[in-house]
Amino acid sequence: MTESRRVLVVGQGAREHALAWKLTRDGAEVLVAPGNAGTAAVAENVPVPPGDIPALVAVARDRRVDLAVIGPEAPLVAGVVDAFRAAGLRAFGPTAAAARLEGSKAFCKQILHRGDVPTAMYRAFPTAARAREYLAAREDVPVVVKADGLAAGKGVYVCGDRAEALAAVDALGGDPALTGAAQGILVEERLDGVEVSVLAITDGRTIVTLPPLQDHKAAHDGDAGPNTGGMGAYCPTPFVDDAALADIEARILVPTVHALRRAKVPFHGVLYAGLMLTAQGPKVLEFNARFGDPECQALLVRLESSLLELLDATADRRLEAVADPVWRDEASVTVVMAAEGYPGAVERGRPITGLDAAAAVPDVQVFQAATRRAGDRVVTDGGRVVSVTALGHSLARAKLQAYTAVRQIRWPGAWCRKDIADKGLARSRELLAAAPGDDGA
Ligand code: AMP
Ligand code: GLY
Repeated sequence: MTESRRVLVVGQGAREHALAWKLTRDGAEVLVAPGNAGTAAVAENVPVPPGDIPALVAVARDRRVDLAVIGPEAPLVAGVVDAFRAAGLRAFGPTAAAARLEGSKAFCKQILHRGDVPTAMYRAFPTAARAREYLAAREDVPVVVKADGLAAGKGVYVCGDRAEALAAVDALGGDPALTGAAQGILVEERLDGVEVSVLAITDGRTIVTLPPLQDHKAAHDGDAGPNTGGMGAYCPTPFVDDAALADIEARILVPTVHALRRAKVPFHGVLYAGLMLTAQGPKVLEFNARFGDPECQALLVRLESSLLELLDATADRRLEAVADPVWRDEASVTVVMAAEGYPGAVERGRPITGLDAAAAVPDVQVFQAATRRAGDRVVTDGGRVVSVTALGHSLARAKLQAYTAVRQIRWPGAWCRKDIADKGLARSRELLAAAPGDDGA
């Protein structure tokens, strides 16, 4: 490809900063709508919110954008890709009908059922009252109670017993913030095991499976505290070796893509499987219809070949013709630094220092999320503020570099988990101890 390509990245988090950073390296000229203080340094921010679909289409048309890349789920579920295509513009991401895989947990379960894809057993209820009746009549076992629609990570309650489950149903049934989301309530079997993320890029036929990762969804060390959008990730995770990844592709990703196509909702974009590795094998907890955040950051620093080529080919349904992506041998670690109060309400506008010093730490990229410029300063503008991402010849080294950079960045109330990648490090030690020695000792 010789001529420069113009790409519009939609969104404003660290995921979108990482996308803009990588696409720029791939030779694209990048616009970000609306972006943040970090994306402004590698791309051009255009002041359009991700929810304003007509304005996004207008910008893409006026600025002669070749490809739009959609970061967050809400515009996908609202039909942003359909709107681009109706306007004759190219976009990377699923249609609204296919994005229901993330937007409706009941639809997701139906597709999984059709594809015979392993997942937790579940029952769906149209109202809180029906869910309550079911729980009262049933054996008292651990369950997970979920709102059916998009709830930004807040619609899921993992419950140890019936009393907790009933309280969760009441919370969902009575939460006005969730009335849009709570079109229904799912009660599902609680799965035990290790959670991992496996993402794939697909054009509806060809599937390119990306290296496996582990996210850290709980707010605090040791997986304690409330659920968040993700406090850190590392890649690759030793919980999924090559054989296990091939198995996940064959038993989960391929049948899901086929089931969607058979249901007449072909999926193109990122298929992100949240998986529980159970004693009975990997099972799907959920599907997302986009890159994960922070998974995207940990993936893209390892991607040596062109992302632009993969996204372009997906938009044109010719992924089959593209060579497999090339990944660096190094491991990556992403640590999310959050504002005081996250995942609850946070104060904004706190001046951030040390971003340049952090970026100067070898093998580190600082991807900004909830930041904005205020005069000559960068200030906080929400909950997850920056994603510090490092490469290393080992996972331990990547972790060290990431936290070395984290220590440079300050603002009043800044915090992060201190144990990102520790489960992976422990698992690697276990595997090493179990492997037969070849040193003759
Ligand atoms: P979801 O948004 O459906 O991925 O759920 C959010 C989090 O809740 C997941 O990342 C898991 O940690 C947990 N979770 C969801 N479903 C289950 C399940 N069936 N068993 C155990 N944990 C679950
Ligand atoms: N890191 C979890 C998500 O993006 O949904």
